[in-house]
This record gives sequence, C-alpha cells and structure tokens, in this order.
Amino acid sequence: MNFDFDRPIDRLHSDSQKWQKYTGRDVLPLWVADMDFAAPPAVIEALRARIEHGVIGYAKPLPSLIAATVDYCARRYGWQVDPAWIVWLPGLVTGLNVAAALGEPGDEILCATPVYPPFMSAPTNQHRKAVPVPMVLRNGRWELDFAALARAVTPRTRQFFLCSPHNPVGRAFSRAELEQVVAFCERHNLLLVSDEIHCDLVLDDVAHVPAATLSPATAARSITLMAPSKTYNIPGLGCSFAIVPDPRLRAAFSRAAQGIVPDVNVLGLVAGEAAMRHGEPWRQQLLAYLRGNRDLLEQTIARGELPGIAMTHVEATYLAWLNIEGLQLANAHAFFEQHGLGFSDGAPFGAAKDTHVRLNFGCTRATLTEALARLKRALAAR
Ligand SMILES: Cc1ncc(COP(=O)(O)O)c(C=O)c1O
Repeated sequence: MNFDFDRPIDRLHSDSQKWQKYTGRDVLPLWVADMDFAAPPAVIEALRARIEHGVIGYAKPLPSLIAATVDYCARRYGWQVDPAWIVWLPGLVTGLNVAAALGEPGDEILCATPVYPPFMSAPTNQHRKAVPVPMVLRNGRWELDFAALARAVTPRTRQFFLCSPHNPVGRAFSRAELEQVVAFCERHNLLLVSDEIHCDLVLDDVAHVPAATLSPATAARSITLMAPSKTYNIPGLGCSFAIVPDPRLRAAFSRAAQGIVPDVNVLGLVAGEAAMRHGEPWRQQLLAYLRGNRDLLEQTIARGELPGIAMTHVEATYLAWLNIEGLQLANAHAFFEQHGLGFSDGAPFGAAKDTHVRLNFGCTRATLTEALARLKRALAAR
C-alpha cells in the first residue's frame, strides 16, 4: 500500500495549534512539532471503530495495548520490557515534570542545550534547578560535552535529562556516546531521565538504542519516556508512557503523579495500540518522505542558496536547527514572520538571541518548497 504524504490537508480551519497561530496571516507554520500528514489509515480505522462503540468512559489500558507496547519494544529495540515497568502518561512533558518532582526542592537537574524548552522549565516548575550545559560542535556534528557536564555537577545534582534522539539538533546518539552518558550518570550517581519520543524517527541507517538497555545497572537508575505520538502523528491524543524498571523508583514516580496526572484518554489508548501494531509500513514510507524533505533542505543550503544560514546533518527527527548568525538580524523571529515563515525561535531552546531558529519539515514537499522560496526572497530583500 502506498501512503500519500503529498496530499494537502487544510489544517487552518481545524483545531490545529500550529496553523491557528497564523490565522488571517500568510505565514507558513513550521514551528510546533507535529506533522501535516494524516495519521496511518490503521489508526484512523481503529479510532472510527472506537467512536462507533459510543461509550467514552474513564479509560484503562487493555492487556492487548500492554502486549503491543512490550512487543513493539522487543521488535524495534530488542528491549525485553516487563509489563510491570510501564507507567502510562498523557504526555511526555508531563513525564518530565513528574520526574523533576522526585527528590527535594533545590535539587539540580542537568540537560544538554540547545534543547526542547520543557527540559529547562520542568525542573523550575517543580522548584528544582535546571542546569543547562551547552553541547559542542565538533567536525560539523553536535556532541555532548562531557567535560563541561562533569564541571556542572555539584552535591545537589540528582538527575540528567537526556533527549535521545535530540531535539532540536537532530542527533541520533551512537551506542558509544550513550555509554559515555551512562558512565557519567553512574560516576555521579544521577538518575537518567531519557526522553526518547523521537526514537522511531531516525532518518539515517542507524538503530536506536534505548539508554536503559545498556546495562542492568543503567536500567535501575533510569526513567525512559516514550510515545507513539510523534512518529505516527497522533500527539493530540496524548498516549505516552514511562518505562521504569526499578520498583522503588517506579513507586516514587507513580506517587509523584498521583492526583495530578490524568489517565490517558480512550482514544489515545486505541490510537497508540493501532499505531504500534499496524503502523510499520506507514512509518517506513514516512521516513523515506522525511528523508526527501531533509535532503532538499540540506542540499539547498549546501549549494549556497541560503547565504548566511548553516545547518548540521539531521540524523533523526523532522526538525532542523538553523544557524542564522551569519544574517546578523536584530529580531530574527519577527523578520521571518514578516516574510511568511513561522519558525520556532531558538532562544527558548537555550540559544543566544537571534542566532538560531528551528524549522519543522514534517510538512508536504510543496509546503517545504514554498518555504525555501520564501526564505530565498527574504534573504534577498535584506
Ligand atoms: C523531546 C520532546 N519531548 C516531548 C515532547 C512533547 O511531548 P508531549 O506532547 O507528549 O508532552 C516533544 C515535542 O516536540 C519533544 O520534542
């Protein structure tokens, strides 16, 4: 079966956060991380059948969903997950906040920047201190700076928030890099909270390695946050989970969530199961399409058609982290909006002002092509 990722779908008149931001303005929304594609047909079918049932009560995951999740982890990552390790969550940002709430006020939580903003806001929300440690660019590749991370450790440091694959720099960390992460956490006795929401969106030919699988000791100090939501484009349904192998840690995590975090809704559960059971052919074609978009963007920049803009190779995710320092703009985000381009501003990710924007290429080729044309015109008009 062929899936049509070129089909334009009007989201402007739907309940889309991404598109509504620019209602009444000719701005292409290339910001918040959802894609402009319909979810896999198998997911739509399962949702339709669930709606037909008619009763939308309080939800509880079925054994078939739990089995689908365990099978998925075994098939995709060779990870034998005990069903008891799974804690269902209505979102991964929720998971980051619950993890941050472990420990004591004033505890310090490390993360590697630039990074998805909730990595820094979740600790603050929970009266913990977020400690951002800049990544480094080595030979055109973003890497974790282990020396800087070690220098940032204090007696109050308790956790490391890893983003793997990394949003926004698009790295799919190698096993060797993850082994360094794990060794770092062991050396400093840190809880490893690994947000792996983008792990089924690896565009290059490398397998995703969940950090928790590196050793039993790592599993015991880890909370892995996963979801079918990004990959199968169902983030609006909020079906996510934490995998917490250690029973004491899991009990603490569940306690921190109690009374605050709602259950996953019935439609999220149904969609999540259908995606994990039947989504693979769709995912393979999605990856091919996203690779095409990534290559179009990377080649346009490599050909020098966007002077002043640089990027590194996107190994995973549908997000490109554009370095715009060369443009020397005073208010970059507004400048791009004026030229019809709605990027994510880099500053909330921890970048210096007006140095970076994030471009979401989870859109039709036609939208990306139009965005690149607008970008060229914008640069020429400066
Ligand atoms: C790394 C990362 N974690 C979490 C999320 C959001 O997860 P959720 O919508 O499940 O809260 C995103 C969305 O862009 C993300 O990139």
